Amino acid sequence: MRLDKFICKSTELTKPQAIAMIEGGKVNVNRDAVTIVSTQVHENNQVTLNGSLLTLRAFRYLIINKPSNTICSNIDEAYPSLFNCITEGNNAELHVAGRLDADTTGLVLITDDGRWSYNIITPSKQCEKVYRVGLRKPITEDAVEKFAVGVQLQGEPQLTRPAKLDIISSQEVLLTITEGKFHQVKRMFSAIGNKVVSLHREQIGAIKLDVNEGEWRYLTEEEVNSFR
Ligand code: URA
Repeated sequence: MRLDKFICKSTELTKPQAIAMIEGGKVNVNRDAVTIVSTQVHENNQVTLNGSLLTLRAFRYLIINKPSNTICSNIDEAYPSLFNCITEGNNAELHVAGRLDADTTGLVLITDDGRWSYNIITPSKQCEKVYRVGLRKPITEDAVEKFAVGVQLQGEPQLTRPAKLDIISSQEVLLTITEGKFHQVKRMFSAIGNKVVSLHREQIGAIKLDVNEGEWRYLTEEEVNSFR
């Protein structure tokens, strides 16, 4: 990783502060002073700041129950950021593994480990996401087959990947998908002539939502490893 990132991940310094330290000659890598911020360092390299050896913090993995009218961005925009719910330092390093729309609620996984989140969001990894969907009109009989085959979303070159539809009642269903295109679930129901009126993510992979709205917890080691 870049030297400035290493400093941020091993101290409480912000990126501009880390850059100032590097350019000010306060950082050594394997005993040599390094002033180039973009220098690549390995996690086993000996990096010191003002003579003190730095150790990378362990990655963090969280589950949170996203309230409606929050956004999955690190900063407040039209709606407040979901990250305001997280009572932990260094939130700027965290990112969500699969965004939800502002009006969608439910399970969001959050981490600072980009390799781990890649396994969750990349369609080829086939990680299942389960959504509870409220519909404006009763679901039609042929919807199960249509989603199993794949539907054409406007502006997309290919059909959606096979998806599983479980009908709970005429206007409530569970949809399991393995990809996450922009507004995917809403566009899938629009493609079959219906409209989503409520959307809640209940499960990602083997992880089921078990915290109250607006609350979060760290994932267990077993849960983290289930995506490796
Ligand atoms: N699909 C959507 O349309 N919206 C979401 O928030 C998630 C999946």
